[in-house]
Amino acid sequence: MKNTLILAAALAGLLLSATAGAAEQKFLADRHAARGVACESCHTAGKDKAPDMNSCLKCHGGSYKALAKTTENLDVNPHDSHLGEGACDKCHSGHKKPLLVCDQCHEFSMKVP
Ligand code: HEC
Ligand code: HEC
Ligand code: HEC
Ligand code: HEC
Repeated sequence: MKNTLILAAALAGLLLSATAGAAEQKFLADRHAARGVACESCHTAGKDKAPDMNSCLKCHGGSYKALAKTTENLDVNPHDSHLGEGACDKCHSGHKKPLLVCDQCHEFSMKVP
């Protein structure tokens, strides 16, 4: 009986830490935090304002054109289209599920990280 209880407690602990781990990695900001990127690196204008794309580009290529080059081999380049140089958070979200803005009209199979 005692052993079963200890085992159950240990399993519950394992489950808890596994789900906590998954939750931490869930959103873009959490994955950045896990790489040591601080809130202020994205939120250059203060934490209560959504990041400006230049704060993202500082680490991701330096310019939209350079970023687009990193995804140019995909069937459809999400960073180079007739929508122009759209704000990063039209697709990438910091703290919620991302969304491919193109799919308001198209049906692409790309997944936004
Ligand atoms: C201080 C540097 C830094 C800033 C600022 C930054 N990133 Fe990143 N980002 C990284 C690093 C490091 C990685 C992991 C290596 C890689 O994929 O380039 C990464 C990975 C990513 C990835 C792909 C991997 C994943 O976890 O999904 C996306 C998408 C991304 N960043 C988008 C953004 C957006 C959008 C912003 C602005 C809101 C941003 N980043 C701001 C450093 C940064
Ligand atoms: C129209 C939607 C859209 C916008 C706007 C957008 N992205 Fe992306 N991004 C995507 C998609 C979709 C992918 C995944 C491409 C793939 O399948 O590898 C991606 C991938 C990335 C990656 C990972 C690239 C790699 O080499 O794996 C980074 C970094 C990134 N985006 C940064 C940005 C930044 C910074 C901005 C703003 C300057 C931005 N994105 C704007 C849709 C978008
Ligand atoms: C990878 C870049 C990135 C990092 C790191 C990041 N955020 Fe964000 N944050 C965003 C983006 C993009 C938005 C716009 C809304 C969304 O996509 O969730 C946002 C929105 C917010 C908002 C709502 C502001 C508004 O009016 O839209 C708050 C508050 C916030 N972040 C706080 C934080 C805090 C606190 C941290 C550190 C623990 C943090 N963020 C780290 C990218 C980031
Ligand atoms: C408001 C609706 C709308 C949005 C949002 C939109 N498109 Fe389009 N797109 C169109 C229309 C309309 C055409 C022209 C008709 C056609 O060829 O399907 C088109 C054509 C295209 C084409 C050339 C035709 C083809 O299918 O090969 C590409 C590539 C494309 N879009 C990519 C994108 C990408 C990438 C995004 C997101 C960054 C995007 N579109 C967002 C409406 C939209």
